[in-house]
Amino acid sequence: MPLFKNLIAGEWVEGVTTTRNINPSNTDDVVGEFVGASAAQVVQAIAAARAAFPAWSRTTAQVRADILLKAADELFARRAELGELLSREEGKTLPEGTGEVIRASQVMRFFAGETIRLRGEIFPPVRPNVTVEVTREPVGIVGVITPWNFPIAIPAWKIGAALAFGNCVVFKPADLTPACGWALVDILARAGLPAGVLNLVMGRGSVVGDPLVDGVDAVSFTGSVPTGRHIATRAIGTMTKIQLEMGGKNALVVLDDADLDVAVECAVNGSFYSTGQRCTASSRLIVTEGIHDRFVAAVKDRLAKLVIGNALNADTQIGPVVDLKQLESNLRYVEIGKRDGAVCTGGERLTRASPGFYMAPALLAETTSTMQVNREEVFGPVAAVIRVRNYDDALATANDTIFGLSSGICTTSLKYARDFQRNSEAGLVMVNLPTAGLDYHVPFGGRKASSYGPREQGSYAAEFFTVVKTCYVHP
Ligand code: UN1
Repeated sequence: MPLFKNLIAGEWVEGVTTTRNINPSNTDDVVGEFVGASAAQVVQAIAAARAAFPAWSRTTAQVRADILLKAADELFARRAELGELLSREEGKTLPEGTGEVIRASQVMRFFAGETIRLRGEIFPPVRPNVTVEVTREPVGIVGVITPWNFPIAIPAWKIGAALAFGNCVVFKPADLTPACGWALVDILARAGLPAGVLNLVMGRGSVVGDPLVDGVDAVSFTGSVPTGRHIATRAIGTMTKIQLEMGGKNALVVLDDADLDVAVECAVNGSFYSTGQRCTASSRLIVTEGIHDRFVAAVKDRLAKLVIGNALNADTQIGPVVDLKQLESNLRYVEIGKRDGAVCTGGERLTRASPGFYMAPALLAETTSTMQVNREEVFGPVAAVIRVRNYDDALATANDTIFGLSSGICTTSLKYARDFQRNSEAGLVMVNLPTAGLDYHVPFGGRKASSYGPREQGSYAAEFFTVVKTCYVHP
């Protein structure tokens, strides 16, 4: 069985623990053994990054662009192999896995371009002969902590941005999906990064997380709200810059005048694809009463036809849940929904030819905004339908949540679409599109409890991964 090691100061090193990574579509299939770093090794990795920083942060943009482009090329060339690895370790379908690897490649290519597009500003003097220049410099050593649900794309858009602007990185991938994180680091290291610029410290958050947050200059994190809050509290003690992407309880509003086919497609895709394991998933379907019954019937029809199975089978549309703990949590939320009065379709555990964590997507109809299933993030293939009277009710219900990541509206009315676009309290708004499935060249992030700190992705990534210097020059 392959043993995957950590990368510290340019060396692949043993750790203090080893963990087996299991395929959620077939628990007899072990992806590999991964070493866990000790807290002392995290400190070493940060020291290696600090040693590499002076030279790396002064390389030309061309040097950094060339390395990122080389990594983008290898990711693209190996998209089928890495896509299969991703599907095997995380459980999304092969097209979703391959698509995510292609996205990681596009992200790297985009940030290669950003290295040479970064620019400053020169302001006209307000005092005689005093020019003011505003420039951007790297923020320093960045800790990157990523979730299991996008195990190659999210690391790519954080690490790609960090390296593009001359930062050094210490990277901790999710312990459920280390293989994709490892593969990305291997590709970047071989693309020509000097020793210490990118370090990999796999392992449990409880061991690796705190020393990482304590020692770096900035932390970019995607994951749960409790972990995000923990990082924020810890980071304030050392004045460490943070960028947190956390949960969602995303609403898809469907109005009477919607194109029914479009609405059903948006709901099924947004709620259930990738097994609902996206922070941008539509977990609340808010539907006006004129279309409600037709919409619910049509979604149920689609659910009955979905093929749920082994992520590596060619005909599978919905893969397994990532692990047993998440599966049990999803099933518990289905029971809570029923207890509170929801009318449930699906939502039961399924068995397939290989032993895995399969469940039927759950549609919880006849729910209200105050029910627990509409207050808490489930992070699985579970969506609740809330019936509302009209657009105003729909908007108020959509905003009735502590979260504010993504939202969507299905309507043929420009008036309602524009009003929703302006008044939805979310960082991302979709009109006649699913709430999940985003582009790589534009900012990503939310409001309220969903996100904290500057946006990631697109040219907006520079806000987090650089610091501004204002320089007054008198000749
Ligand atoms: C997408 O919907 O395409 O963890 C991306 C997540 C998000 C990324 C969603 N940070 O689900």
